Amino acid sequence: MTVFFCLLTLAASLIGSCHSSPHMIIANYSGQWLTTVPKNLSSWTNVLDLAFNFIHAVEQTDFSYMTELKVLNVSHNSINDLNCTVFAFNKKVEYIDLSNNKLKSIAGIFPETIRHLDISTNYFKTMSMCKGFGNLLQLEYLGIGATQVFRSDFEPIARLQLQYVLIELQGLTDYDNGSIAVLNTKNLHIILPSTATDPYNVLLDAVKTSEVLELSNVREWNLKSDPKKYMTDIAQNSIVTHLTLSHFVLDWHTVVNALQSIWHSSVESLRFYDLTLSRHIDKVQFDYSNTSMKALLIQKASTTEFQFKQSDLYSLFADMNIENLTITDANILFMVCPLESSPLKHINFANNALTDDVFQECATLKNLESLEMAQNKLEKVSKISSMTRNMPSLKHLDISHNLLHYDGEDCHWSNSITRLNMASCDLTNSIFKCLPRHLETLILKNNEVTHVPLGISQFENLKELNLASNRLSDLPDCSFFKGLVGLNVEYNQIFSPSQELIEECHSVHELRAGGNPFQCDCEIKNFITFQEKSPGKIIGWPDDYICEHPEDTKGTTLKDLYIPEIYCIVYLLIAVIVLPIVFLSILIFGLCKYFDGPWYLKMLWKWTRTKHRVQRKNKNYQELQRDLVYHAFVSYSEHDSSWVKHTLLPNLEKNNSSLQICQHERNFVPGKSIVENIIDCIDKSYKSIFVLSPNFVQSEWCHYELYFAHHKLYTENTDNLILILLEPIPQYLIPSKYYKLKTLMAQRTYLEWPKETRKHGLFWANLRASININVSNPETPSSLSNVTA
Ligand SMILES: *[C@@H]1O[C@H](CO)[C@@H](O)[C@H](O)[C@H]1NC(C)=O
Ligand SMILES: *[C@@H]1O[C@H](CO)[C@@H](O)[C@H](O)[C@H]1NC(C)=O
Repeated sequence: MTVFFCLLTLAASLIGSCHSSPHMIIANYSGQWLTTVPKNLSSWTNVLDLAFNFIHAVEQTDFSYMTELKVLNVSHNSINDLNCTVFAFNKKVEYIDLSNNKLKSIAGIFPETIRHLDISTNYFKTMSMCKGFGNLLQLEYLGIGATQVFRSDFEPIARLQLQYVLIELQGLTDYDNGSIAVLNTKNLHIILPSTATDPYNVLLDAVKTSEVLELSNVREWNLKSDPKKYMTDIAQNSIVTHLTLSHFVLDWHTVVNALQSIWHSSVESLRFYDLTLSRHIDKVQFDYSNTSMKALLIQKASTTEFQFKQSDLYSLFADMNIENLTITDANILFMVCPLESSPLKHINFANNALTDDVFQECATLKNLESLEMAQNKLEKVSKISSMTRNMPSLKHLDISHNLLHYDGEDCHWSNSITRLNMASCDLTNSIFKCLPRHLETLILKNNEVTHVPLGISQFENLKELNLASNRLSDLPDCSFFKGLVGLNVEYNQIFSPSQELIEECHSVHELRAGGNPFQCDCEIKNFITFQEKSPGKIIGWPDDYICEHPEDTKGTTLKDLYIPEIYCIVYLLIAVIVLPIVFLSILIFGLCKYFDGPWYLKMLWKWTRTKHRVQRKNKNYQELQRDLVYHAFVSYSEHDSSWVKHTLLPNLEKNNSSLQICQHERNFVPGKSIVENIIDCIDKSYKSIFVLSPNFVQSEWCHYELYFAHHKLYTENTDNLILILLEPIPQYLIPSKYYKLKTLMAQRTYLEWPKETRKHGLFWANLRASININVSNPETPSSLSNVTA
């Protein structure tokens, strides 16, 4: 077992090493209750994540073998002290996160390759370690923190061109004025003291240092001086253009004061992130004039107080003379309409609790270009459409993730809307009857659309249509969207996109249809052919296009699907199956014709019928037999007597056949007249054979014979007449008085004497079967047996 694991590890590391160059090798050990750095990791490791563990010390041997290490995250551990020689062999390390440990001191110097270094939120008393960072010329991100801040600690790093500096001052006790201001950074983030220390001097330095500033962690500001003056001082010294205030808990009036100060400062964009408003909210006077402000963002906000007039809060924001207003994750219920024509261009109210009443009959949002109201409580599409009617500049409307449905009422969209997002609502096919006229992009992802209904109007400008995750069973009919360029129908119920609709959508350059349950039979070939003909048009090919049915193809990509051509192409099918059959039939027919097949068939048919008849009649055979002496009586013309004597009789009476034939020359009783003899002969014979030929027809005698036989046939209703056609008799040769013969010839099937000798065998067999009704029957009629005996 151990050997096996060793081999496995070896194999894994070999595979790992082979792939080291193109891929990052990431070792993630975060949150695993580790107390030391794990040993024997791959020496090719690029990223080592040890965050959220209980590691209290790191040693040189922990990392020295990982010569490819680039990223090391040991934040949120319990490391007490650090000697930078542990990184002596990590010549490529760029990112070290040691924040949130218990570091009190750092010895030695970090590798010069380092770009990102975070040692904030530790137990440092001073920032003296910064003296060792002066040579880290690659450094872009620096996170530091201490309780005492001295200007002299920052001076060695003043020459570094930093991108981002995080200064954590939660336990601040001492601050040398002007310390932070020596830093040279594009972004500054200060975690303000949570102690009673007044952050005035820190703030004053911070707003002078960087244009992009984030201040976090303010819970109740205990201002000794006049708050208005305090804030105005700071604002007036500020060079900040982008200010973020995060993790604030403040009362309404302090926020309004701060906002008012910032309104008259250099700040262009103000962002509150995670803001809690405490205490009572009431109507305030606000001076909107003289400002650089363009955008206000409030992301994640709440109030601790609920008993207030909503409009007091909302009108402060609605009347702002800025371009961008974002209030998200704030649970706002509605928004008041600006009193005067508003410069607002972009409004984002995503993830709130807005209802259909928002901005109804609001005519002051004339400049509004984009309105995002995703994840609210909007319900009626027609009502939202009326809302946009007064927004003549509105281009982009996002009302996705709402409870929207279309109730069939008239829709009055703003004509300027070009992009509409209604993803993840409850919309059905009818939504196509309520859409802005000049749409260019329509997102209906994750709704209940089954098809594009007929009779909707043309959307000539529509370029992008997203119908992913609906219930389509085929591509939508592109005849309504003549200019469509991008079509997304991923994750629907499309078994096989139909040929006509693919062709109808010829203007589409990007078709996304992956994730459908493809039915991999002949029909899907159209789609595969389409892909081959226009490569690059189908996005996500081949990986996203996978067979679902039939079972044996499940999991195969359409690209790898093999259906032999023959199964699918009809004319090939004809060529391979039908043609050979036709050819064979012709061949058989030809051969039959050549060897007189039809004749054989006819004879065989007769023979089987006779056999059948005989079997049927055997039952009442006893009744039929009387005093029969002969099997058959043969009647013929004198001219045919030679054939009868030399061919017919020898063949019928041949050794084993034991047939008794009554022939008038041979079996006639002397003393009786010829007619008497003939009648006697017919009476004593089971069957009568007539050898027909033109000669026979001429013979008067024969007619009589036939008459008697026929008479017997009618009276006893037995099938005792056998006609042999020795030579063909043209109809005109039969005299009209022989109408009986004529009818017989016409009704009865006769045995034809074949000219070819090879056919004679079958002829005799047939004849014998007709006469000798019980050759194969063991119960030979006694009278016949007697005769034979
Ligand atoms: C550690 O830092 C890396 C690099 O930034 C990051 O990807 C990773 O998520 C961090 N780990 C934790 C647990 O935050
Ligand atoms: C306002 O919002 C638009 C759209 O979200 C964005 O492109 C623009 O940069 C924003 N302007 C400011 C000043 O934040």
